[in-house]
Amino acid sequence: MGPVSIERIDARIKWGLVITGILTLGFLAAAALRENVWAEWRVVRKEYAALLREKATDERGRALAGQFQVEIAQAVIPALSTVDRCVTCHAGIDDPRMADAKQPFRTHPGDYVKNHPVEQFGCTVCHRGQGRALAFEEAKAEGHHWDYPLLPVELTQASCGVCHTAEEVSDKGGARLAAGKALFEAKGCQACHKLGGRGGNLGPALDNEGLKVRGMLPMAGVQGPRTLPQWLIEHFRDPQAVVAGSQMKPPQLSEEEITQLTTYMLSLQVRDLPQTYLSPAKHLEIYKKTHPDPLSGEELYNRFCAACHDLGRHGRYDKFFNQFMPAVRGVSFIQLASSEFIEQTIRQGRPGTLMPSWGEAAGGLSDAEIQRIREYLQSTPIAPNEQISPEVVQAAQVNALPVAGDPARGKAVFTRHCAGCHLNGLAPIVFNPALLKNAPDGFLYATIAHGRRNTPMPGFLGPDQGGFRPQDIADAVMYLRSVGGGNVGAPGQAVSVK
Ligand code: HEC
Ligand code: HEC
Ligand code: HEC
Ligand code: HEC
Ligand code: HEC
Ligand code: HEC
Repeated sequence: MGPVSIERIDARIKWGLVITGILTLGFLAAAALRENVWAEWRVVRKEYAALLREKATDERGRALAGQFQVEIAQAVIPALSTVDRCVTCHAGIDDPRMADAKQPFRTHPGDYVKNHPVEQFGCTVCHRGQGRALAFEEAKAEGHHWDYPLLPVELTQASCGVCHTAEEVSDKGGARLAAGKALFEAKGCQACHKLGGRGGNLGPALDNEGLKVRGMLPMAGVQGPRTLPQWLIEHFRDPQAVVAGSQMKPPQLSEEEITQLTTYMLSLQVRDLPQTYLSPAKHLEIYKKTHPDPLSGEELYNRFCAACHDLGRHGRYDKFFNQFMPAVRGVSFIQLASSEFIEQTIRQGRPGTLMPSWGEAAGGLSDAEIQRIREYLQSTPIAPNEQISPEVVQAAQVNALPVAGDPARGKAVFTRHCAGCHLNGLAPIVFNPALLKNAPDGFLYATIAHGRRNTPMPGFLGPDQGGFRPQDIADAVMYLRSVGGGNVGAPGQAVSVK
């Protein structure tokens, strides 16, 4: 190849520059067209203008079509800090003639928009999504930049709960929300979750569940879109698939129930809306969080205890938790345990086990509520052949043993006769200091002597049961005390542990 002249190189550079210049201008022009003439909202708006002309059969229709502009329409609502441009595309939501039109032109279903005028409420207060967006994908906002993407249509009733009570809208467009709330109560979710300061402590409090954002939740196990609603749905289907090692038992729900509960979860929001946006019933509900309506002992039990203790009539080993759930309404337990013992156990729980503490400062139950639950446990019917004799019941209330016990001998008894159940997760841990502090000696003695009906705990006293003498039982009791601690009452005294 010979040398290339300077002129040839110059000319090549010049042509190069001209071509890149033209390409750049082309791109800019296309971008400008896309932004303005071909912008999604403009195309939609023009299509709607044509639809309006098509539907204009009378004078009024022709006037509406004539006035319609291809421009951005929006609701600016300072009280809610929103600017919603959804109506730019959803231009037919309040026009009954659009009932059969395709989206986004279709008339809004139900009375939602009638009851909540667009100028005062906008759309995102119910639907979420990005109000200012002028393209549908951006309004949907499922990407990472927006905290609260458009709710799936079937979950939109969640928003009613921000301003109304679920009960108030149950037959006025909020049926799914109301069903979700009822399910939450019926399933006893508060056994493990606090709401309004009341509930167990195994799972997180749910007061602000509906405002959780992506970053607060482990998304790796989620199959569908990585949004809060989808996370909740998949978590209800299978908690362990979404949260590895979760202690939430799979709740066994139908798909419709999952939709209902997810709707209710999304409605739980701690928000500062202007008071005028809340219905009177909602105001009352917020007040009642700190002044709850009195629930009966049975209602309290179903809400806070049943998820772990079932009906409470039978003791059972729980495979999922690898822990024994005692029969708290069992006929032996309720006859032998004193009212004080039961109330203190509920109030303080059993640290080191799943049994949480329900006192005001922890589970949020008042003394009066704990008393009502105790009365409910004690109201369990007792058949004549299940009656324990008054002398045995009396002795169980007292902090005394019929003979002095010896812990060293008791250790041998325990190892031989008790450890197989009580040290293997098949029965409660009987060295628990919280148990031993509240239980009088007489109660421990009677429990070991006579056992607990409808549970695996056998009675040991006498030839027809375990063949123990009173001495063996007293020894076992003293062994438990030597490991787990004494009782708060004085020896030989009737016990009151208030
Ligand atoms: C650029 C035009 C446009 C804007 C702006 C827009 N939408 Fe839409 N929207 C559409 C279109 C088009 C559809 C139909 C989409 C489809 O069927 O895939 C739709 C569908 C919907 C649906 C039904 C979704 C479904 O799964 O059935 C809802 C709800 C909705 N929009 C709400 C909103 C809300 C709320 C806003 C404002 C935050 C909004 N849209 C803004 C164009 C728009
Ligand atoms: C008061 C709450 C509320 C407001 C405000 C509201 N919507 Fe809805 N919208 C709903 C509910 C709830 C549904 C689901 C209806 C159902 O479950 O039958 C819905 C459904 C829709 C659908 C889907 C309809 C279909 O046939 O699938 C669209 C689109 C929609 N809304 C758009 C809007 C737009 C645009 C606005 C604002 C102008 C708006 N909505 C304002 C509550 C609301
Ligand atoms: C941002 C707060 C807010 C949201 C969200 C909201 N509402 Fe309302 N709603 C109101 C207010 C405030 C009124 C009273 C309007 C008035 O009378 O001026 C109202 C009125 C109503 C009414 C008519 C009055 C009545 O009691 O008969 C119904 C029905 C209703 N809402 C149902 C719903 C349903 C269903 C939803 C959820 C899809 C919902 N609302 C979402 C605030 C809200
Ligand atoms: C036996 C105890 C238990 C019961 C009963 C229970 N949960 Fe859970 N739940 C947990 C635990 C533990 C977690 C935390 C681990 C996880 O996320 O799976 C959890 C997590 C959750 C979460 C996710 C919270 C978050 O933001 O991380 C929701 C929502 C939830 N539960 C709802 C419910 C509902 C609704 C019910 C009733 C149908 C229920 N739970 C019953 C123990 C329980
Ligand atoms: C076959 C298994 C089994 C054997 C053997 C057994 N227990 Fe139990 N024990 C249980 C179960 C299960 C419970 C809880 C029953 C319930 O209320 O549901 C229990 C309850 C108790 C309680 C009451 C605990 C509480 O939290 O109130 C004491 C005390 C007790 N056992 C001591 C003993 C002693 C001492 C022995 C040996 C002499 C023994 N048990 C042998 C299964 C057993
Ligand atoms: C998260 C599960 C869970 C919840 C919720 C729960 N408990 Fe328990 N409870 C247990 C377990 C496990 C034990 C046994 C603890 C042990 O091994 O000592 C227990 C023990 C008890 C005992 C002692 C029984 C005995 O044999 O001495 C009583 C009484 C009791 N629970 C009452 C209640 C009441 C009332 C509620 C509701 C207010 C409640 N529990 C809620 C798991 C639970």
